[in-house]
Amino acid sequence: MHNFARSTAASDCLRASDPDLFAALRAEENRQAEGIEMIPSENYCFPEVYPLLGSVFNNKYSEGYPGRRYYGGQENTDRIETIARDRAKALFRAEYANVQPLGGSAMNQAVYFGLLQPGDTVLAMDLSHGGHLTHGAPVSHMGKVFRFIRYKSEVPSGRIDLEKVRALALEHKPKMVLCGFSSYPRELDYAGFKRIADEVGALTFADVSHIGGLIAGGALANPMDVGFDVMSTTTHKSLRGPRGGLIVAKQKFGAALDKSVFPGLQGGPHMHQVAATATTLLLASSESFKAYARQVIVNAKRLAEVLVAGGADLVTGGTDNHMMVVTTTQTFGLTGAESETTLDEVGITVNKQLIPDDPNPPLRPSGIRLGTPAATARGMDEAAMETLGGIVLRALRAPKDLATLQALHAETKALCAKFPVPGLVDDA
Ligand SMILES: Cc1ncc(COP(=O)(O)O)c(C=O)c1O
Repeated sequence: MHNFARSTAASDCLRASDPDLFAALRAEENRQAEGIEMIPSENYCFPEVYPLLGSVFNNKYSEGYPGRRYYGGQENTDRIETIARDRAKALFRAEYANVQPLGGSAMNQAVYFGLLQPGDTVLAMDLSHGGHLTHGAPVSHMGKVFRFIRYKSEVPSGRIDLEKVRALALEHKPKMVLCGFSSYPRELDYAGFKRIADEVGALTFADVSHIGGLIAGGALANPMDVGFDVMSTTTHKSLRGPRGGLIVAKQKFGAALDKSVFPGLQGGPHMHQVAATATTLLLASSESFKAYARQVIVNAKRLAEVLVAGGADLVTGGTDNHMMVVTTTQTFGLTGAESETTLDEVGITVNKQLIPDDPNPPLRPSGIRLGTPAATARGMDEAAMETLGGIVLRALRAPKDLATLQALHAETKALCAKFPVPGLVDDA
């Protein structure tokens, strides 16, 4: 047998053929290494992900599923997809898994179209209270095809009153009850949602995209353990894998979900992504990943405490997971957009964020969202959170003071230099 391998000179080849792209790649590597990603949906992937994403699996068409493909040459792709599905089932304690969704939006569309009929009613969290666009926001196609009824969190506590959710369920008789969020800093009572769904005969669907890694690592509750029918997660957030999505479910929904992903919604799966997902799922089942998942939450709680002690106004007053939503308009007199730009100046990347019932529009909302999955992947601990929290507070209090911002930027760089990005080496 020959031992063919990808040329190790691949990046030299890129440098020669497309210097502009090579320069942009280098610049992004530097940006990620010298600054810190605190957008809660972002992370630094496991280093093992890069060689698989940049591998010859990219070259292969694999429409269908293992053992039932529409193209030849599938002995290796069948192997990796079977491994990925088995690992997803084991990690999330589910009977069925599909690892082909190209991303989180595709994965959720596949669930809706696989298990519902157009026009069916879904009960889901309101966008400004933490829900995601794919949970029926009117601007998403899903909001046009299905009828979404929205439950909200209580203002100002931010907690969800399950009696109000139940009242909505009894009134609207949804076919599906959806638990999931992209900007909600608290645990959800999955058993409580399941009881409500059972009472009205609805399916239970959890979109745990943000917290998939924290569930995999045993640091947060797994909705499948209380009998949810289906659960989706992106693979690139707290799970630290390639960009993509996966669905797990009870076996009885498997055939409908498989058909919905392919051929319903997608064509050829991205097998380089499936390969990287398979490895991610192995790494996420390790003891060290459990420690990582716990530390993500410890770090988030410490950062939240530092921000609150410094006068910041946190939606719900703190966090149970990896993220916090900070109302910036009152305390700092800055919109979320202004806060995001100010923190960019000091090398801390966050995102502007709607707060519950925000009076301002999405591009100029009243807050920001911060999270700790990426910082924790660099090995940062509570002491680093204290440093970062201090930088955030001082920057937001002095957005026009260039000298202060420059000094704070130097502090961020010094901290980041102590905690390298996994998989990036300084070859200067
Ligand atoms: C809860 C939730 N679901 C779905 C998605 C969509 O994922 P993608 O951006 O990969 O389409 C996101 C992305 O932020 C999310 O937070």
